[in-house]
Amino acid sequence: MSFTLPELPYSHDALAPFMSRETLEYHHDKHHLAYVNNGNNLLKGTEWEGQSLEEIVKGSFGKNAGLFNNAGQHFNHLHFWNWMKPNGGGAIPSELEKKIIEDLGSVEKMKEDFIQAGVTQFGSGWNWLAVKDGKIVVMKTPNGESPLVHGASPILGCDVWEHSYYIDYRNRRPDYLKAFVENLVNWDYVAELYSKAV
Ligand SMILES: [Fe+2]
Repeated sequence: MSFTLPELPYSHDALAPFMSRETLEYHHDKHHLAYVNNGNNLLKGTEWEGQSLEEIVKGSFGKNAGLFNNAGQHFNHLHFWNWMKPNGGGAIPSELEKKIIEDLGSVEKMKEDFIQAGVTQFGSGWNWLAVKDGKIVVMKTPNGESPLVHGASPILGCDVWEHSYYIDYRNRRPDYLKAFVENLVNWDYVAELYSKAV
């Protein structure tokens, strides 16, 4: 298979004022496209050609840095667009909410820990909710890595590369993370991935 850039599941204006049209034009139309194009070029002639995206990401990790970085970021961004929606945040589907409270203490504690993971990810990377050994955990990873290459299944991720927030928030990464959690997260998609992960 080759990688393709999906359309955004909403218009470029739809997430404003929490994420602007300009950010989505750069982030989706240019940055994600570059991962797709570079990934396709680097995949050619490798042992992973013809495999699924998840197999390529897991297989190339630690073996082919160029391919991994681009395939990993393609995987992360495919989900990232769906982890947000206009008028996001708000109520968490009840089964997922119950599990969050069971594993992480409370919804407020989960949000606090998730934001803290993003704030403390030094340099570029991602912060996550993931399912590991049947439990929901908070994680952070550098660059294009994800829970997928650390024995866990990602159910929510926030991109803390500067290209995701610098136009709208400048250096205020904590404000971006707070807006992501309170106003952008598509909890229905998180619940869908959770049900597949357990
Ligand atoms: Fe990104």
